[in-house]
Amino acid sequence: MGTRSERAATLLKELGLVVSSSSLPGAVGAFNFVVPCRTAAGEELVLRCRRTDDSGARRLVADYWDTILWAIGSGCGIRLRTLSEQVEVAEAVRTAGVETPRIRRHGEDWQLLERLKGRPLSHVLGHADANIAQRAAAAFVSTVARLLAADILVPDRWGGNELVLESGAVALLDFDIAYADEARTDELAAVELALAARTALRWGVDREAVGQAIVVELLEWHQPAAIAEALRGLYRWETVKSRHSLALATPRDDDLMDELEALARELG
Ligand SMILES: Nc1ncnc2c1ncn2[C@@H]1O[C@H](COP(=O)(O)OP(=O)(O)O)[C@@H](O)[C@H]1O
Ligand SMILES: [Mg+2]
Repeated sequence: MGTRSERAATLLKELGLVVSSSSLPGAVGAFNFVVPCRTAAGEELVLRCRRTDDSGARRLVADYWDTILWAIGSGCGIRLRTLSEQVEVAEAVRTAGVETPRIRRHGEDWQLLERLKGRPLSHVLGHADANIAQRAAAAFVSTVARLLAADILVPDRWGGNELVLESGAVALLDFDIAYADEARTDELAAVELALAARTALRWGVDREAVGQAIVVELLEWHQPAAIAEALRGLYRWETVKSRHSLALATPRDDDLMDELEALARELG
């Protein structure tokens, strides 16, 4: 596992876990090591522990979010949550009716998680069968809308932090990133919904269906005009040439931009 994951090795030993040979992807993320493991009784779990080295990834992620939020007209940055802070967020997410792995045990810099069976949303969205991708993208918008309706902000939903379960439900995995100023709930909720809508539109979900998911889930609570404004912000972001090449910064796509513009117009 290399010297940088000494902390993970120590934790595995302390917790009586062994590394399991699994096809779990993405062992080293920007902030954490993710190690598939199992108990002596054979239960399959996941150990997440914070990286102590900083490869510059934190700065890159922060810059990337600054660019998106700036394009949308917000000066709100992001901050990194500790792994123990995320326990409360995961609890709130589950209470709102959205799946997330149960956290069996945790410390300040680690979590031991239930292992969910599913495929990363980013893989499912790229599925050869367009219907499968569209269903997943639509389920994703509803999931985000349900959380926003419960006043829960969970940024950084880019496809690699969600699993599509066998039931078709979308489970959320990773709550590392929070907004620096969470008091700006309405503005930030509009940003999250616009980003989720963008994902759905990009994968061919019918614009009317996206608009309906937004209006049906959120109309009583949220001003569609704020979401329209955030969609226009994302349109502007699509035109920024020097966008960071992280998850959502896909190549400029004129069809997607037309859809963003049209949805913004329809919402107000
Ligand atoms: N509890 C879990 N059950 C199943 N797969 C998981 C679980 N936690 C993480 N994974 C897999 O590991 C990948 C990275 O996990 P994530 O928690 O997002 O780590 P990071 O902090 O490195 O971004 C995910 O995309 C997912 O495929
Ligand atoms: Mg992640």
